[in-house]
Amino acid sequence: MFSGIEIAKVLGMIVCLSGTPKSLKEGFIRECGVEVYTPFKKYFPDEEQYLRFDFKLVPEKVAVVQSMYPEQDRKVVELYLALEALSGLGVEVSEVVILYAAYARQDKRFLIGEPISVKALYQGLKLFGLNKVITLDVHTPLPFIDIGFHLVNIIPHSYMLSRAKLKIDLVLAPDKGAMYRAEKVAKDMDVTYDYLDKYRDRVTGDVKIDAKVLDVVGKNVVIVDDIISTGRTLAKAVEALYRAGANKVYAAVTHALVSSETITILSRSGIEKLLIANTIEQRIELPEWIQVIDVSKTLCEALK
Ligand code: R5P
Repeated sequence: MFSGIEIAKVLGMIVCLSGTPKSLKEGFIRECGVEVYTPFKKYFPDEEQYLRFDFKLVPEKVAVVQSMYPEQDRKVVELYLALEALSGLGVEVSEVVILYAAYARQDKRFLIGEPISVKALYQGLKLFGLNKVITLDVHTPLPFIDIGFHLVNIIPHSYMLSRAKLKIDLVLAPDKGAMYRAEKVAKDMDVTYDYLDKYRDRVTGDVKIDAKVLDVVGKNVVIVDDIISTGRTLAKAVEALYRAGANKVYAAVTHALVSSETITILSRSGIEKLLIANTIEQRIELPEWIQVIDVSKTLCEALK
């Protein structure tokens, strides 16, 4: 069937789909020392996506990387199209790496009649018979369904904080449910950890944060979270901590889905510094108090 194509045993190729930020692709080439390939992509007149792998040498196996923001729906479909095309070429997919997983925040039926959207995402991936999926700080790391593949979730905050060389006394989660992340980061850094009390109105989306009885007076505190979107969670947490007497409040957040409004809200909170990972191609210019940390090294270690 592929008589015109030489079938080569090319190992160690990373297929980067269109959501992969440029800096991460460069990082993969530099840190993993492997070939990075992006398939040809275009849109039909009705805006459906078309893609094609026009390998000169068809690899035996590849890792496939996608980040599902912006245009979440398109990025999910692009991943499904790529996996189907690779299967048609007989290429083994050793890992799928999801930098930012869309639809992962809705992990419960908060209101009757809602979908568990992360379940729909995982069930879709399951259809491709994958062995291993690596997520970068996915909102719901512990699947509650039989997903049929091995899921490895990377928490990059300790690496991000070490790269930024910040002096931290206390690591905080913005809510109790995210304590596992704060605990891991605090243990890596050999400092203490705790959580803030967060209440979100499920209808209006309004957030309230309480620093409760935390002893933060004079301390340098870092809030660790997976996502910034509107910035309301982080801004309220920062304000509550300064009210409670914190010295410097930093944040390390993996995925920054930020707009200029988000930056304004965060800037008003008085945050000292915000570290974000390069899981998403930023579309606006970021102020100097936001530092983007390249996490390609962490991902290459997981791929090896
Ligand atoms: C929520 O559970 C997440 O971990 C983030 O805290 C949340 O998505 C942040 O959203 P926003 O920036 O809109 O407050």
